[in-house]
Amino acid sequence: MHLSHLAALAAAPLLASAAPSSLETRQSVQKVTVNPATKYQPIDGFGFSAAFQRANLIVNLKEPKQSEVLNLLFNTTSGAGFSIVRNGIGSSKDSQKDYMNTILPTCPSSPSGTPDYKWDGKDSGQLFLSQKAVSFGVKQFYANAWSAPGCMKTNNNDANGGSLCGVSGASCKSGDWKQAYANYLVKYIQLYAESGVTVTHLGFLNEPDFSTSYASMLSSGTQAAEFIKVLRPTLDKANLTSVGINCCEATGWSVANQHASQINSAGALGMVYAITSHEYTSRISGTLGTKARVWQTEYSDLNGGWSTAWYSNGGSGDGFTWANTVFNGIVNSNLSAYIFWEGVQDRATNNNNNEKLILVDGQTYQVSKRLWAFAQFRVVRPGAVRIGASGGSNLKSGAFLNADGSVAVVIINSATSTQTVGISVTGAPVASGDVRAWYTDNTHDASETTVTVGTDGTASASVPGRGMVSFLVAAPGNGTVVKGL
Ligand SMILES: *[C@@H]1O[C@H](CO)[C@@H](O)[C@H](O)[C@H]1NC(C)=O
Ligand SMILES: *[C@@H]1O[C@H](CO)[C@@H](O)[C@H](O)[C@H]1NC(C)=O
Ligand SMILES: *[C@@H]1O[C@H](CO)[C@@H](O)[C@H](O)[C@H]1NC(C)=O
Ligand SMILES: *[C@@H]1O[C@H](CO)[C@@H](O)[C@H](O)[C@H]1NC(C)=O
Repeated sequence: MHLSHLAALAAAPLLASAAPSSLETRQSVQKVTVNPATKYQPIDGFGFSAAFQRANLIVNLKEPKQSEVLNLLFNTTSGAGFSIVRNGIGSSKDSQKDYMNTILPTCPSSPSGTPDYKWDGKDSGQLFLSQKAVSFGVKQFYANAWSAPGCMKTNNNDANGGSLCGVSGASCKSGDWKQAYANYLVKYIQLYAESGVTVTHLGFLNEPDFSTSYASMLSSGTQAAEFIKVLRPTLDKANLTSVGINCCEATGWSVANQHASQINSAGALGMVYAITSHEYTSRISGTLGTKARVWQTEYSDLNGGWSTAWYSNGGSGDGFTWANTVFNGIVNSNLSAYIFWEGVQDRATNNNNNEKLILVDGQTYQVSKRLWAFAQFRVVRPGAVRIGASGGSNLKSGAFLNADGSVAVVIINSATSTQTVGISVTGAPVASGDVRAWYTDNTHDASETTVTVGTDGTASASVPGRGMVSFLVAAPGNGTVVKGL
């Protein structure tokens, strides 16, 4: 797998070279100007989920395949370099089908009773995956419950909707379970901490505007705010002040907009790290206009047949389509994170579709170009801030100032033919040897490409039609940043 890419890495410690000074005067160099003085939103990163026991597909892979798949997901030089793992906090009493089991299969008889937590040390394979992610340097783990355990809900079932007992309009004979649910979520985080994984973000709902036959719990933004006001102090008392609360995993952008304004009206927005949305029922467009960060936390093509194409016909499973989707969220809609649905999935359990980045079938796997679309964003590291970028014809460009001072520029060539792209950073001419670039198209997977640097400090590289190229420029005087990547 990916021999072309490995060969490129082996062959090329550094491909940048001094350019003929005539380069800029050659025809059709599309210039993109990056302006670090124009600052937009902070970036947390990019990620995927392995919920619903999909992580077990990786657990069950034998070496070397297991390491290969982990590298494809997490490696910042040979894979997608994902920096966020979204884990499902189980609510089911057992692990039948692909259900995620809960740490509280049976509730105490009243909300103030002592809970009898059961930890299996596996968490549907997600603990293993998370520990592996830690070994790659991943620092963001988003623990996200689809539902409270059934015994805390109006319908006494973790599936089929129902509400958390104790939020407005949801009173239960057994009492108010808000505090018990908050304690339960804290316990889950503590169990992960004991296993070497620091949960950094916590969600307590998934698609609360949609009732399903699997784990689901209904909530408005107003009801969510009532719970947030219990959860925040519970986290703080447990010395988990640094855990950010995310809410509410709406099925789509327009519902997320309602959540954001309801939580704000209820006075709980200041307790929220990120407003989270999926893109199933309405796509992301414009900005939510909230002071909180905004994350897209789950989306995929659920309909098309399994595809590994970068560009076939612009279909919703194409890698190029995904390059544009992620770009749109981050550059046009002020997102601080973009998280794909499943990282891996088999052929049998679900439709043979594109809801995964990597198809894992027993001991074999196939990588989609959707993964390489995300890999083009790996130059943008957690803690970056988006900065100004503009110019060029038929180009979409986004630029980011990383925390180490390096500048990442991601560019999609919307034209159908090859273009030469030249980037210049305002106030900081690029030095030869301080820049690298990688590209993806139908036949390349984030392959390194030659960068030429003109005497005026413009760094240029060629990008195929319907291709994507990403530049990484070292902070002035710090070429070690890019050399080491
Ligand atoms: C990432 O991939 C590169 C290239 O294959 C390899 O040298 C490096 O060891 C990998 N990193 C990790 C953490 O495995
Ligand atoms: C609280 O957490 C911090 C790290 O977030 C840790 O350094 C400190 O020891 C913890 N304190 C207690 C009392 O557990
Ligand atoms: C972008 O997001 C930040 C939070 O990350 C927020 O402060 C800012 O107001 C948002 N800008 C727009 C235009 O929505
Ligand atoms: C260069 O980058 C490295 C890696 O991020 C960092 O540790 C170092 O402080 C930087 N040096 C300068 C002079 O900015």
